[in-house]
Amino acid sequence: MTCMQVAASRGPYDIVIERDLLGRCGPMIAAVNSGRRAVLVEDEAVSATHAEVVAAHLQSQGWTLSRHPLRAEEHLKQMAAVEGIWAAAAAAGVDRGDLIIAVGGGIVGDVAGFAAATWLRGIDVVQVPTTLLSMVDASIGGKTGVNVPLADVGQLGKNMAGAFWSPNLVLVDADALGTLPVREVRSGLAECAKHAVIGDRALESLLLSEAEALAAGRLDGVDPVIEQAIAVKRAVVQQDERESGARMLLNLGHTFGHAIEPIESLDLTHGEAVSIGMVAASACAAGLNLITREREASIRTLLASLGLPVCLQHTVPVDHLLAAMRHDKKAVAGQLRLVLPSGDGAVVRDDVPMERVASAWHAVQPDAV
Ligand SMILES: NC(=O)c1ccc[n+]([C@@H]2O[C@H](COP(=O)([O-])OP(=O)(O)OC[C@H]3O[C@@H](n4cnc5c(N)ncnc54)[C@H](O)[C@@H]3O)[C@@H](O)[C@H]2O)c1
Repeated sequence: MTCMQVAASRGPYDIVIERDLLGRCGPMIAAVNSGRRAVLVEDEAVSATHAEVVAAHLQSQGWTLSRHPLRAEEHLKQMAAVEGIWAAAAAAGVDRGDLIIAVGGGIVGDVAGFAAATWLRGIDVVQVPTTLLSMVDASIGGKTGVNVPLADVGQLGKNMAGAFWSPNLVLVDADALGTLPVREVRSGLAECAKHAVIGDRALESLLLSEAEALAAGRLDGVDPVIEQAIAVKRAVVQQDERESGARMLLNLGHTFGHAIEPIESLDLTHGEAVSIGMVAASACAAGLNLITREREASIRTLLASLGLPVCLQHTVPVDHLLAAMRHDKKAVAGQLRLVLPSGDGAVVRDDVPMERVASAWHAVQPDAV
């Protein structure tokens, strides 16, 4: 068993990483919450499998559970989903000493976390991530939230409303990835690659050496990747819980990625959008001489070797992409805030000329590769 403790303003919490953990989670959850009553917010896709294991085990330990399935689709990650959890909490009589347990991927974790942050002005939450992306990224660090419709651009603003609400416990069991479609495994590998690029060259080497198996969804060797990727996220969120400095580095690829993720015709998962976003950010960084063209190529190679897209499947007008980026919540006073790879990791830049950003988008158009 690996256990990493994370310091946070709500109090320190443990990330426990072990196989075959879900059917033994009761004592660990009981150690952080003595209420014995919980809303189990579960991804519909894992209701019959991993959520059932957690539920059956907790019920056998005397917990009263209200099970609340959610369909994990990005367009449903809106306030109505949070209100549904509030209604379940009200019906179950969940009070301040009780708990929300999220079993699922990043969508379920973000929505359940926001419901926990707001129900009765904040109750405990335990994250049980079931996607690779949520194991190494979304479940850790306390960012919760939902998408918000933006009438002027006719699409959803990603994670525009939310709260910082750190979990009381995170339980990471890589056995839960056994049912995850390979495409979603690769999506999680994009965030692992992001963590490697911003802070851990040893993780980058490990990913490259394991790439063939990981990209094919063979996950026997995934545990050290998960541990190292979590260690990067932990170090960053401990340094900067509220995203005023170092934590922004975790947005590498995201300001570009958020502009393309909602475009339905591209049909991108979050991780795939981040992958293309990282390639665009690398092109931008190379254009500004923050990294060499060789480093730009090596980041692209890392992502491609993990089975991730490194360009758009069809041309998207650059003007449209620039407009979508201006709506990202990381834009400050109308100026884009970009995270770009640099020699020894990544840097945050507020001063990148729009022509450079436009060139970066040209570098990921299908005819550019
Ligand atoms: N809070 C944060 O710090 C943070 C960080 C990164 C991403 N996010 C958010 O996370 C979301 C993406 O998360 P995600 O990639 O986990 O996607 P997701 O939650 O959409 O899950 C991906 C798909 O896998 C299914 N699924 C989940 N676990 C499964 C399993 N074990 N077996 C079979 N199917 C399973 C889901 O039903 C869904 O269809 C985005 O909304 C993003 O904004 C949040």
